[in-house]
Amino acid sequence: MARVAVVTGGTRGIGEAISVALKDAGYTVAANYAGNDERARDFTSRTGIKAYKWDVADFDACVAGIKQVEGELGPVDVIVNNAGITRDATMKKMNRTAWDEVLDTNLGGCYNMCKAAWDGMLDRKFGRIVNIGSINGQAGQYGQVNYAAAKSGIHGFTKALGQEGAKAGITVNAIAPGYIDTDMVAAVPPEVLAKIVARIPVGRLGHASEIARGVLFLVADEGGFITGSTMSINGGQHMY
Ligand code: CAA
Repeated sequence: MARVAVVTGGTRGIGEAISVALKDAGYTVAANYAGNDERARDFTSRTGIKAYKWDVADFDACVAGIKQVEGELGPVDVIVNNAGITRDATMKKMNRTAWDEVLDTNLGGCYNMCKAAWDGMLDRKFGRIVNIGSINGQAGQYGQVNYAAAKSGIHGFTKALGQEGAKAGITVNAIAPGYIDTDMVAAVPPEVLAKIVARIPVGRLGHASEIARGVLFLVADEGGFITGSTMSINGGQHMY
């Protein structure tokens, strides 16, 4: 039977590319999303991939969401924690809400989703978890103390949980994307973005499909010896 994969933030941007790549590789995919019903409906009609609405920052919603997916599609073997938001501002202007929302979604979402699926993975002695970090969690980024802290936290989370899952056949890895041509990056002020692109040795933004390719590699059944690692896919912008 096909393995079941849940992709958070799976109907747009990098998440959409991951959902589609997993489906094309034979996985049964559940694409989670939080808010944009119209984009989710459009995504499902284009791809045939079922979309599930819940907020990854809400622990009870994650438990209920995993339960629903398992009831409809089968046990969850693969989780891709991709859902992420930005609330960019310099420290001077960043309020506590902007801090909490980014930490709760980007980092708290990883805990919530992994916790909800963990016991099942332990029982079945198989799991593949990929957490989407960021170059900005590795190197920091002006105007992103919240986002950089959350993404940096994801990299520590990955290494710790990788140790816990190892004996049970569960691998936990991260991908640290650089600047990818998604809506999130399009929201960066153009003059700021131009300076960032000028620092990318490959000379362009990345494509979401280039992140999806890394996910496919990490979730493969043959990937049992790769755990706790971070794959940087950033056009050479930060060699970590
Ligand atoms: N380094 C040093 N100084 C910087 C700087 C930088 N990277 N960016 C801005 N500044 C300076 C400006 O030159 C300016 O200085 P002066 O006042 O002396 O002129 C000052 O900081 C204020 O700059 P802004 O006018 O831009 O201030 P703002 O308050 O309107 O906005 C900001 C600040 C929110 C940080 C804005 O510059 C911004 O959005 N930057 C982009 C942040 C970014 O890269 N986010 C990534 C989003 S994509 C993503 O996160 C995906 C991923 O994983 C890669």
